Amino acid sequence: MTAALVPFSPDARFALSRIESPTDDFASDVRAGLTATPKSLPPRWFYDDLGSTLFDAICFLPEYYVTRAETEVLTSFRNEIAVSFGPQVRLVELGSGMARKTRILLDVLAARQGDIEYVPVDVDAAILERSGHDLLSEYPALHIRALCSDFSRPSIPLSAFAPSRARTIVLFLGSTIGNLDPDAAIAMLRDLRSALRPNDALFLGADLRKDRATLEAAYDDPLGVTASFNLNLLQRINRELGGHFELASFKHRAFYDEVRGRIEMHLVSRRAQRVRIDALDIEIAFADGETIHTENSYKHDEATLRTLARESGFTITNTWTDAQRRFADVLMIAS
Ligand code: SAH
Ligand code: AVI
Repeated sequence: MTAALVPFSPDARFALSRIESPTDDFASDVRAGLTATPKSLPPRWFYDDLGSTLFDAICFLPEYYVTRAETEVLTSFRNEIAVSFGPQVRLVELGSGMARKTRILLDVLAARQGDIEYVPVDVDAAILERSGHDLLSEYPALHIRALCSDFSRPSIPLSAFAPSRARTIVLFLGSTIGNLDPDAAIAMLRDLRSALRPNDALFLGADLRKDRATLEAAYDDPLGVTASFNLNLLQRINRELGGHFELASFKHRAFYDEVRGRIEMHLVSRRAQRVRIDALDIEIAFADGETIHTENSYKHDEATLRTLARESGFTITNTWTDAQRRFADVLMIAS
């Protein structure tokens, strides 16, 4: 179901619609995740107002090299990247957030083609409004059709707007693909491929495998911003579902699993405790040291990226990395 959140008029430069999906149920995810063994919660629920603001702060942390490395890639190769997109493109962006890095590409595209249709897709409606408002004042030729939607089945938001003669380029920046397990990532990209025409393309940002110390520092910063980002999930359950979590009785843990090539984030119970959640009418028992697994962040290499493309119907035509080879942006053409 699509519902307009910000009224649409045909000549307006900004419209925001919500596309509901059966996966949009926070209460069901919390019930399923906290009554399972081991306990887990899906990372999409990090991104309420406070969570999105905390993620934005993470991007400024000295330890979180991810944002700076991708900014370096986009800045160094912006002209080459724009040429690889072709003369007239429409941009869709999955998990657009504050769309800060998107501006590096918008600057070049605005100079090349004038009017640009931009379709940001994010679960956080407030961030779509905020970033949309900022972008409109910076880019007079931009037309924004923002979609508040889950990106795990991108064909659903992609079918919400009219076909265009321009080539569709789907941006998926920041290594957000890494927050999906490999099977889910392939399923998502296959579904995306089904909604694209041959020669449309995905521009994918992927964090690359590197030494444990660098990775673990990026997900456990001394200021505690990442810990707050993680703990905010419990606060969200308290706020939205009448949970009774005491935040001080949980702690943040992040570690690199080298075999799986992923950072795991957990919330660890500091003691044996029972926590009631009023809206679900349940009480959850935690053993001392028991964890809630809240996020995976997969790290890639050339082989894993090639497999991802091959398994989902794309062909990698270009790869750009930063000077230290920490991060890659790849152009994958719908084959
Ligand atoms: N692209 C930005 C932001 C990355 S943070 C960057 O590179 O810095 C991840 C973004 O994806 C957040 O804005 C979050 O709200 C959004 N997001 C997370 N899970 C999502 C999902 N399942 N569907 C749609 N958006 C999601
Ligand atoms: C959005 N995503 C790519 C971030 C990541 O690096 O996995 C989320 C994040 N989690 C902790 N820090 C940042």
